[in-house]
Amino acid sequence: MRWIALFLSAALLSAQTAPKAATPAAAPKAGAAAAAPKPVATSKQLMEIMLIPASEALFDVGSKEPKTDADWAAVKKQAIILAEGGQLLLVPGRAKPGVWNNTARQLMVAGAASVKAADEKNVDKIIEIGDQILMACEGCHKQYLPKK
Ligand code: HEC
Repeated sequence: MRWIALFLSAALLSAQTAPKAATPAAAPKAGAAAAAPKPVATSKQLMEIMLIPASEALFDVGSKEPKTDADWAAVKKQAIILAEGGQLLLVPGRAKPGVWNNTARQLMVAGAASVKAADEKNVDKIIEIGDQILMACEGCHKQYLPKK
């Protein structure tokens, strides 16, 4: 039976290497194009998947104080999502000069400050930063939310 296993692994190996060898020139070009950052989600999806849950978790810190290390780790995770989510508003294809970029940067800065505050387990600081977060959300919405 061993030869079957040998034969199979040899067949698998050649199956894996064959396509690579067949397209050596095309690969780097496709890789470079794929590497350019470009939005996948709509702004609304970014809000719903990242910014709304992350900011709500931080807003909740005042009323539901984190106690254990695990609680604080969860807060920190949301702060990271907020900071990085702010940066996603700044990628080419989403970024817009003026209010949009400024408020996105405010989110990024407030998110980063929340990460630090979570490391320090500083409830008061996170509450204080919450006001800045809210101002950033509202600042962008004032200009960019579709009027109803
Ligand atoms: C740089 C601009 C910008 C920032 C900053 C921003 N938003 Fe938004 N937000 C938008 C845009 C644009 C829409 C509308 C998307 C649409 O309807 O196409 C939106 C929509 C929303 C909606 C409505 C979503 C829905 O389902 O209709 C909520 C809620 C929301 N944002 C929450 C937040 C919160 C919370 C923050 C701050 C943590 C925030 N946003 C920061 C641009 C921003």
